[in-house]
Amino acid sequence: MDEPAWTDVMPDSALGEGAARGIVVDGTAVALFRTGGEVFALRDRCTHGAAKLSDGFLEDMCIECPLHEGRFDLRTGRAVQLPATVAVEVFATRVNDGQIQIRLA
Ligand code: FES
Repeated sequence: MDEPAWTDVMPDSALGEGAARGIVVDGTAVALFRTGGEVFALRDRCTHGAAKLSDGFLEDMCIECPLHEGRFDLRTGRAVQLPATVAVEVFATRVNDGQIQIRLA
């Protein structure tokens, strides 16, 4: 089976260090973050409730949900702080020819 395609989502220069953006890619809400120079993409919905992770707070390679302070590891999506207990989906990212690209699973 073919791997899912990479999709351009924004210019690399549009996502500064420490930035968070909520975007929609092919109907999927995606939260994009840049920290430590790397770009991370997670599904833009907390697994505990109806909060957008793109509205959360970046700290120590984690995103903290703005609603109840659940935390998720940006690299794996793993829930690392209650009340969140279920991992959030993570999407592969890369920078190619000046564009941030993601690959929806
Ligand atoms: S909605 Fe995110 S921790 Fe409750």
